[in-house]
Amino acid sequence: MTSTPSIAVVLGTRPEIIKCAPIVHECERRDYPYAVVHTGQHYSDELDSVFFEELDLPEPDYDLGVGSRPHGRQTGTLIAQIEPILEDERPDAVLVQGDTNSALAGSIAACKLDTQLGHVEAGLRSFDRDMPEELNRILADHASDYLFAPTTESERLLQNEGIPDERIHVTGNTVVDAVQRHADIAAEESDVLDELGISGFRYAVLTAHRAENVDDPDRFQSILDGVGRFAADRGVRCIYPVHPRAEKRIAEFDLSVPEGIELVDALSYLDFLRLEDEALVVFTDSGGVQEETCILGTRCVTVRDSTERPETLSVGANILVGTDAEDIASGAAEMLDRPVDWACPFGNGTAAANILDAVSADVLAEVA
Ligand code: UD1
Ligand code: UDP
Repeated sequence: MTSTPSIAVVLGTRPEIIKCAPIVHECERRDYPYAVVHTGQHYSDELDSVFFEELDLPEPDYDLGVGSRPHGRQTGTLIAQIEPILEDERPDAVLVQGDTNSALAGSIAACKLDTQLGHVEAGLRSFDRDMPEELNRILADHASDYLFAPTTESERLLQNEGIPDERIHVTGNTVVDAVQRHADIAAEESDVLDELGISGFRYAVLTAHRAENVDDPDRFQSILDGVGRFAADRGVRCIYPVHPRAEKRIAEFDLSVPEGIELVDALSYLDFLRLEDEALVVFTDSGGVQEETCILGTRCVTVRDSTERPETLSVGANILVGTDAEDIASGAAEMLDRPVDWACPFGNGTAAANILDAVSADVLAEVA
């Protein structure tokens, strides 16, 4: 072991690419050796390569191409593929981010080899064990040597589960680093508002992709109806950049998309940031979008029964409304009456640096 830590970053989906990018950039800035292991859980250009390009990320060192499969087979295949890579690379620390099957697979592969494992965005809990993400994040947290909690609320939840204090580091969320780096670039370079014909107009945004919402035809239709009602009441258009999972379900269930909702392809990061930044309100079931709207000062309406981002609720940036159409429309009306005066609870944009500081401090201590 040298005094410079070597890092392996395992990622596989759109939000992981976005939230790991600041860590990769920080490794480059510090000249730390690193390898990026892309699981290939997301592979469509609109969920994958567009982010590598826009976020100025190098090609992954390993591209496992796992693709879409049932969860157990996807996770198991990845564990078997990641293990020999870690045996070859022998990194000082493996970093995984968030709550996807890719993060779980990276976590299990690392801890079986007794390699130091760091979980970025540790300590989030929805307390809904029916969500695959909840089990993934609990398992990743309990396998980890470093738990990078974005907030003191996450730290408290980890302490309640008996995780020793010395493993927990409150770092902020790397999503703040990413937004800070890209929001101004998006304002300068993205033409998305002109392309969608909404420049100078008030508009809303919808993202819905969660399995528990879009795989259930009644819930999904109810979300569309509630957002459609809001759009009609306010006379605004609502732009819905559609995740491929949701696109398939709309066709399969033959859902009726209200007139005020406009389906567009999933957007690149700069275009989506621009869209979020200028929106009157964003309806979402995404984790990252709840955080980004809070950071950007855009009102958010979360169409789920629970959230693992309660900080966005307590600062007043977000309201949790479930999926009943009437509740969605009235929740959005309530949000519009709120002032946009909240402070960002997810740190000040130094999360990646804080994460690498924690890892390098231990490496330095071991060589000393
Ligand atoms: C996954 C994560 C979810 C995260 C989301 C980010 C898990 C359990 N779920 O959900 O936590 O919020 O990513 O977007 O890890 N598909 C494509 N192209 C792709 C990828 C998927 O068309 O590049 C389609 C396939 O039909 C696939 C479906 O989307 O079956 C679902 O993909 P999957 O990776 O299983 O889950 P996500 O819904 O993307
Ligand atoms: N995002 C994007 N284009 C879109 C929709 C979302 O770039 O059309 C970004 C968004 O800015 C956020 C991330 O995708 O950073 C959120 O990912 P997603 O909602 O897929 O997953 P989750 O955060 O729910 O796990």
